[in-house]
Amino acid sequence: MTHPASTTPWQLLQSARARLAQTSLNTLFAESPQRADQMTLSTAGLTLDYSKNRIDNEALVALQTLAEARQLPQKIDAMFRGDVINRTEQRQVLHTLLRSPRPGLTGEQQEIRNAWKKIANFTDALHRGEIHGITGKPLTNIINIGIGGSHLGPAMANLALTPYHKPGIRVQFVSNVDASDLAEKLRGADPETTLFIVASKTFTTQETLANAQTARSWLLEKTGNRDAVANHFAAVSTAIDRIAEFGIPPEHTFPMWDWVGGRYSIWSAIGLPLALAIGSDRFEEFLHGAAAMDNHFQLAPLAQNMPVILALLSFWYQNFWGADTLALLPYDHYLREFPSYVQQLDMESNGKSVHMDGEPFPQPASPIIWGTEGTNGQHSFHQLLHQGNILVPVDFILPLKSHNPTGNHHDLLVANCLSQSRALMVGKNLQQARDELLATGMDEKQADALAPHKVMPGNRPSNTLLTDQLSPSRLGALIALYEHKVFAQSVLWDINAFDQWGVELGKQICDDLLPEIASTGECQRFDASTNALLARYKAARNQ
Ligand code: F6P
Repeated sequence: MTHPASTTPWQLLQSARARLAQTSLNTLFAESPQRADQMTLSTAGLTLDYSKNRIDNEALVALQTLAEARQLPQKIDAMFRGDVINRTEQRQVLHTLLRSPRPGLTGEQQEIRNAWKKIANFTDALHRGEIHGITGKPLTNIINIGIGGSHLGPAMANLALTPYHKPGIRVQFVSNVDASDLAEKLRGADPETTLFIVASKTFTTQETLANAQTARSWLLEKTGNRDAVANHFAAVSTAIDRIAEFGIPPEHTFPMWDWVGGRYSIWSAIGLPLALAIGSDRFEEFLHGAAAMDNHFQLAPLAQNMPVILALLSFWYQNFWGADTLALLPYDHYLREFPSYVQQLDMESNGKSVHMDGEPFPQPASPIIWGTEGTNGQHSFHQLLHQGNILVPVDFILPLKSHNPTGNHHDLLVANCLSQSRALMVGKNLQQARDELLATGMDEKQADALAPHKVMPGNRPSNTLLTDQLSPSRLGALIALYEHKVFAQSVLWDINAFDQWGVELGKQICDDLLPEIASTGECQRFDASTNALLARYKAARNQ
């Protein structure tokens, strides 16, 4: 593959970067009164204002030309068409089909329809109190056991849609192999009303199987009835045989397919805990919201395509401005797990260093994603965003209406969000800082000494993403937006966003370490550090 740096758009982008480094966002706004309007897009109930970015029309056009040279439109079509674009695993990538079955892929469509019916029937029956435990009591306490893509999506969405939770149903999540995670959920749980969902695409994941076995033992001990597993467990997996071996009956077994990647799987039966929390009708709205974003991604020209614009900007900052991180700052308490969710989505997808053809490339292709809910971050790491010597592009996410309108809280929240993006952009120069100090009555000598500490460089870029209210359909659109952004970004670097070989070596070494941990003797098989750390653990365990 031709290295993008040797192409004409790349050279144009380099000169655009040099030009834009000499100007400020304040100047760009002053020069173009239409800037905010021109750089605002709306679709699927979301509005993106990307005007506070160090970008101009010329640079945007060069980025779009690069995307065209990378055949982004054709690759978007290839994904939706069901081509085998996950080439290292020889798989199609069809998570979009789960939210909007299309004609032409009949086999998959039928399976999706059947699975969806099963999810909806099970959900509705549980809400009617018709899914019973071994003693006849309705199941109301749901504990999902899964990790990575079988955890982060449903856990995040369950929290995000708290206002839509069905009364009387409690949904909790266990992911970590650290026993404290499960112990906390089991403490006080009523075994007669608890349903465990074992969510694992492969049904081989160590953490999930360990938690599932412990949950099983807990249930059998509490109920004293070996048959209880059939009533109190459900599972989601591609490995139907392994589910059966665990003792879970077919009516509690939900399918998965290898053409759905783990981190793209919330739309499948991996979303079952979410459906149980909010109801099948709301879950359908969630799917429709995502389908609206799919439609936009597939049909909108690159210049008006929301996921593409986000991808181009991310690519721009990482490759031309050296910004290796992206802060995601949802100004919504219910969206506080969204940054962790996007962390897996982006970093497990694009945290790679070879092209599709296996040729290495040196630049990073995925920013480090991090962040927390506003306003909490303002009293923590925003100091670095404003004055640190590091460029951190920010995505602000802000619902315009609160689910809990109380006094002027939402006005305060909105004011804080908008002030942060504005402060990052406008900054404060030395003269302004000095004048402000003098205006407080401070003498000149003190003002001169203090003013440099108060300088804010400004010119720090951000996107602001608005939605009317965080509803199931808006959340679906928001997740799909970031899914497509990640895919579009992978196309710019010609990498496979849908495999994750980087997680394998750690798993292999862990399998190798486990017998050593179990044995009592001294271990000398590994490096000196690992051997010594193992010895310390064994000594502590034996005390
Ligand atoms: O962390 C690696 C990974 O394979 C993720 O991609 C996946 O979402 C997670 O493990 C869980 O896998 P499974 O659903 O097969 O248990």
